[in-house]
Amino acid sequence: MPHRARVLAALPAMVLYALASGGLAYLIQPILDEVLPQGDRVGLICGAIVGLFLAKGVGSYFSVYLMADASQRLVRDLRTELFAHILGQSTAFFGGRATGRLLSRLTNDVSRVQQVVSETCGDLLRESFALIAFAALLLYRDVGLALVCMTGAPLVVYPLVRLGQRVRRTTRRSQEQLEHLSHLTVEAFTGHRIVQAFQAEAFERRKFHRASERLYRTNMKVTSTMSVLPPLMEVLGGLGIAGVLWYGSRQIAAADLSAGEFVSFLMALLLMYGPVKKLSRVNANIQQALAAAERIFETLDTHTETADRQGARVLAPLGTGIEFRDVTFQYHDDAEPVLRGISFTVQAGQVAAVVGLSGAGKTTLVNLVPRFHDVTGGAILIDGVDLRDVTLRSLRGTIGMVTQDTILFDASIADNIAYADQAASRESIEAVARAAHAHEFIVELPQGYDTPIGERGQRLSGGQRQRLTIARALLKNSPILILDEATSALDAESELLVQDALRKLLLNRTAFVIAHRLSTIHRADAIIVLDGGRVVEVGRHAELLARPDSTYARLYASQAFESGTDREATPEVEGDDLPGAPIAAAKSRAGRAASGTS
Ligand SMILES: Nc1ncnc2c1ncn2[C@@H]1O[C@H](COP(=O)(O)OP(=O)(O)O)[C@@H](O)[C@H]1O
Ligand SMILES: [Mg+2]
Repeated sequence: MPHRARVLAALPAMVLYALASGGLAYLIQPILDEVLPQGDRVGLICGAIVGLFLAKGVGSYFSVYLMADASQRLVRDLRTELFAHILGQSTAFFGGRATGRLLSRLTNDVSRVQQVVSETCGDLLRESFALIAFAALLLYRDVGLALVCMTGAPLVVYPLVRLGQRVRRTTRRSQEQLEHLSHLTVEAFTGHRIVQAFQAEAFERRKFHRASERLYRTNMKVTSTMSVLPPLMEVLGGLGIAGVLWYGSRQIAAADLSAGEFVSFLMALLLMYGPVKKLSRVNANIQQALAAAERIFETLDTHTETADRQGARVLAPLGTGIEFRDVTFQYHDDAEPVLRGISFTVQAGQVAAVVGLSGAGKTTLVNLVPRFHDVTGGAILIDGVDLRDVTLRSLRGTIGMVTQDTILFDASIADNIAYADQAASRESIEAVARAAHAHEFIVELPQGYDTPIGERGQRLSGGQRQRLTIARALLKNSPILILDEATSALDAESELLVQDALRKLLLNRTAFVIAHRLSTIHRADAIIVLDGGRVVEVGRHAELLARPDSTYARLYASQAFESGTDREATPEVEGDDLPGAPIAAAKSRAGRAASGTS
């Protein structure tokens, strides 16, 4: 509908094309009956021939151009809509789908639709008009003769429809296999280092080859079905022509028909062959497009977006704090809950450290705050208001985040840092980079802040990447901060520097910090100890350590936290940059000395 103007503009061009085509077939009769035997009207007929070819050309050009334009616009819009739609989906949606598969919908399926819209819909209209013009000429020449040659037409409808259905089914399979191929490609290419390190090239190659082979077979099935159509039409055309010749020769003998009229008739019939052949494939082509379109619309009709509730409010600036009230969460309906009966409160301006063994549910817990997932039981309240009663936009607008996996984009360093605000000035970018202790390494790079960092930032080291993600979060300058093992990839020295920056940063903010460094945990206003999806203890460092039978104390003693480089917090390991809890660190130092590797 949005591009109907172009389709409408193409219609006159198609009519022109059809009329000119019919006109040329009509001219055969005066040529044979008048020009050749008597030499009458030679100039006029010659002029008409040139004029009609010209008109046909003009009609053809504009109809093809305008239809292609409409289809390209359609595809452009569809693709953008699909992209935006997919990007708006929930974390769970992306968790359940491979990137390569989504990519394939956006490229292969949309291309298939486009091909058909531009070629087939254009053909369908233009050739239908041409057919009407030819049919009109046939009827004008001789009604009886016309009826004779059209008797076969209804016979083809059934095979055309049946073949079309088959094409649709196999095309759908073909698109699915293409999607699988795309998935295998993305996975192998992004994991190329592991593939090579584990020497799995041959394994990946075989996997790819098998998928490729299946796609080939399916595509050949589509081709073999589609190739039945033109011969089918040809045989039918042959029957028509034979019938016409048989019937026509008797009429000429009876002087009911002139030779010119008959040849003109035959010419129109022969010229119909082209359009009919094209039209015979139109249904099959449309079925192909429908198979692809179905998949596109399935995606467009999938709604997993985290939607605002009716009457959701804009989140007011944080006043008192964030409360988890009996929160339960499970990833799937039939899965075990990952979080159970979580209740605690973080006062505004406080830092909550979330600790626990790997798999305890720390990441899951903090991901509930920006609503990457919604709680399945209980509620999270900000200043007493349920998170689900505020607009997602305002909620996420107040949260800065450093995720456990560092995600950077294929752009310059400056653009990556300024991701929250593309209009940020170079000064503010530099300021946050300094705070995250990234400035030092950035200025060493050949193009400084304008250095492109490659896909996922692969041209940087793990620690450098992490510092950029911290700088990026700093630039957003949001009142709530979530740091999920934000300094895990840093070496002891840069960690010390970044910790220092984070300490300043956390001063006036409400923060959830998942850390395994004692230094961070030590300073936290509240330590939330998770074990198997439950909060087992909440308190400050000294408090928790003093408790009898404390899980925190056990974690602490079992070297679950790295001592990091916080000299005040862990005087026992002063001057030692070894990771490990104090007691264990001392032990391991002794152990290393004994084995002579220090
Ligand atoms: N997307 C997911 N789908 C299903 N289960 C998940 C998903 N992410 C994490 N889990 C499960 O939730 C539990 C907690 O994971 P996570 O919150 O990442 O732990 P932590 O951050 O404490 O190491 C784990 O047992 C993990 O298997
Ligand atoms: Mg985690």
